[in-house]
Amino acid sequence: MTTSESTTTPRIEVENVQKRFGTVEALSDVTMELKDNEVLGLVGDNGAGKSTLIKTLVGIHQPDAGEIRFNGEPVTIDGPKDARRLGIATVYQDLALVDELSVAENMFLGRAPVKKLAGIVPMVDRETMNEESERILRERLNINLNPDTPTEYLSGGERQAVAIGRALVTDPDIVLLDEPTSALSKAAVEHVENLVEQLQENGHTVIIVDHNLEEIISMTDRIAVLFQGRVVDTLETDRVTRDDIVSMMVSGQSIDAPDDVDEQQVNQESVTDSTNSSTA
Ligand SMILES: Nc1ncnc2c1ncn2[C@@H]1O[C@H](COP(=O)(O)OP(=O)(O)O)[C@@H](O)[C@H]1O
Ligand SMILES: [Mg+2]
Repeated sequence: MTTSESTTTPRIEVENVQKRFGTVEALSDVTMELKDNEVLGLVGDNGAGKSTLIKTLVGIHQPDAGEIRFNGEPVTIDGPKDARRLGIATVYQDLALVDELSVAENMFLGRAPVKKLAGIVPMVDRETMNEESERILRERLNINLNPDTPTEYLSGGERQAVAIGRALVTDPDIVLLDEPTSALSKAAVEHVENLVEQLQENGHTVIIVDHNLEEIISMTDRIAVLFQGRVVDTLETDRVTRDDIVSMMVSGQSIDAPDDVDEQQVNQESVTDSTNSSTA
């Protein structure tokens, strides 16, 4: 990776990070960076280490070796609270929403705003909670939902928005999504693509894990391929094909320096083939 054009400090840098579970090396020598406001896709076979990497970035796991830098500063992320303090939030793989609870209750689960009744008795500040939920969904995800609706009545795409909205309650800069579309219908998946686009438009930086490569290709700026705990390569999405990604996932080898080869071919071909003649 020699992208010398990155003038701004990456939001997150992971350097030589290693994580073992007993004899399993879930992450070995993982080095990658997350640029400001990009959507980075994380792909790899089952067991490649994707979830472990996400969990390390939200403080559920601590690396055994290596360094994580946040805005250029080395950090220790000791737990989800620490991660939230740094502005990192995650949407979990299972998207667990409590069906009987409302949109707002799900979004503020475990951290509902409290007010004191008669200045003494603490109770949930429902009005603030509802207003905030409605605002976050509208402003951040471009979705209008009644915050009082029990989530059991929502469509798959709307449930997805609530799950992502829940991660946005703490106003994070960085949102990590681990297989957010695995349980969704096709229509709902398209919805997720819009949600991710919306996140990026609103200035968030995103890592998304998804086994569906078409989705990954349509959503991301760059794609990091993991293979048995190692990063095979991180490539710009519009420079790779689905087959390139599959090949890297399966072989654990990066595709051969495609830039040089392509440029040579293009230069030679352009002499004879001038179908796209925007003459200079
Ligand atoms: N908490 C854990 N305890 C023991 N082994 C784990 C744990 N989490 C993950 N692993 C192992 O680490 C490897 C990577 O897992 P994971 O990060 O979940 O992969 P992925 O998300 O890419 O499918 C796998 O071999 C998995 O069995
Ligand atoms: Mg996983």
